Amino acid sequence: MATLELRNVHKSYGQGLADTLRQIELSIESGEFLILVGPSGCGKSTLMNCIAGLETISGGSILVDGVDISQQSPKERDIAMVFQSYALYPTMSVRENIAFGLKIRKLPVETINAEVERVAKLLQIEHLLTRKPAQLSGGQQQRVAMGRALARRPKIYLFDEPLSNLDAKLRVEMRTEIKLMHQRLKTTTVYVTHDQIEAMTLGDKVAVMKDGIIQQFGTPQQIYNDPANHFVASFIGSPPMNFIPLAVQQRGAQAWGVVESVQGRCELPLGQWQAGLQEHGVLLGVRPEQIRTGDDSSLPGLPAAVAVTEPTGPDTLAFVSLNNTHVCCRLAPERVPAAGEILNLQFDPSRLLLFNAATGERLFMAETRAQVDESASITLAAQVNG
Ligand SMILES: Nc1ncnc2c1ncn2[C@@H]1O[C@H](COP(=O)(O)OP(=O)(O)OP(=O)(O)O)[C@@H](O)[C@H]1O
Ligand SMILES: [Mg+2]
Repeated sequence: MATLELRNVHKSYGQGLADTLRQIELSIESGEFLILVGPSGCGKSTLMNCIAGLETISGGSILVDGVDISQQSPKERDIAMVFQSYALYPTMSVRENIAFGLKIRKLPVETINAEVERVAKLLQIEHLLTRKPAQLSGGQQQRVAMGRALARRPKIYLFDEPLSNLDAKLRVEMRTEIKLMHQRLKTTTVYVTHDQIEAMTLGDKVAVMKDGIIQQFGTPQQIYNDPANHFVASFIGSPPMNFIPLAVQQRGAQAWGVVESVQGRCELPLGQWQAGLQEHGVLLGVRPEQIRTGDDSSLPGLPAAVAVTEPTGPDTLAFVSLNNTHVCCRLAPERVPAAGEILNLQFDPSRLLLFNAATGERLFMAETRAQVDESASITLAAQVNG
């Protein structure tokens, strides 16, 4: 177990090229599991390669247990990495591939054999131990590559999308296995994934990256419920958060956001009026499961016709048009409204997120006096058209 700290890490692949990593600041406690997510090309693999020592950094420092390792060779660092593109030794059998790192460390044969058997069982590749990599499918090769890392007990594990070549069922099984393994071994881990569920369920912390910059670093719950900006809010969550462009109106000291369907309109209290609201525009962020469709009498409703329904199994997704934007609502699985059916949409004002439509920044609006004084009468004003 070890702590891992990245201080102001920069990486450029050459003069004249834009920085691939910029001002990376991360701090991972001993035994923690960090998930690194971000769109293709944002620098995830580059960051992993820098931590492993396969790439040099252009600035900053990388510390393991408080010691700067940025000048050390990959071997000295005692970090095991599973690559995005698995690199197995083609002339060695699966057993030899997994045992390789242990042999180099000159461990006793019995220990090596026991370790190979253990990881082969964990990864369900016991029947493949005598084969060569060329005789394996992509997913099987990926599991062998993983086995090679797991057979070691390094200070830190780095996983770069290790499950991306596996079929859906095996992926779910492996996800659970990785979590169980981490609970048992408590090895400090950095894990890159594109998978929303892996991102939310596997890690203690999540770092969301874009264009070589960490956009937000926090617990999965913080990232999901309290996103730092529009990018993080849109990247995390499946189906994604809805973003409804609001028509913003000023009434006294109070700002209101108008949401309209063909069937009606409602006004949401946004808080104290701020200069610039109308110029940059405001996006209302609301997750599909946060739009209620019941008849909570404390919240007025907005009637809206269902355009399309998608029963996914565990829930039903219903799409409506609000402010000319497709908006997804998550309903209970047994509820499958027909196209054209009117839903009574209800927003919880305390759960609404607001974003600057021009810059993507989160907007934090101060409460107005009026809201406090007359909260009962103006919490949410709705009216039905025609
Ligand atoms: N050896 C290299 N020389 C120059 N540029 C590189 C090199 N390796 C990567 N890059 C560039 O650095 C950026 C980040 O690449 P990286 O592989 O780290 O992205 P990633 O986040 O892992 O993407 P993906 O999700 O597709 O794996 C990309 O623009 C890529 O083209
Ligand atoms: Mg990558």
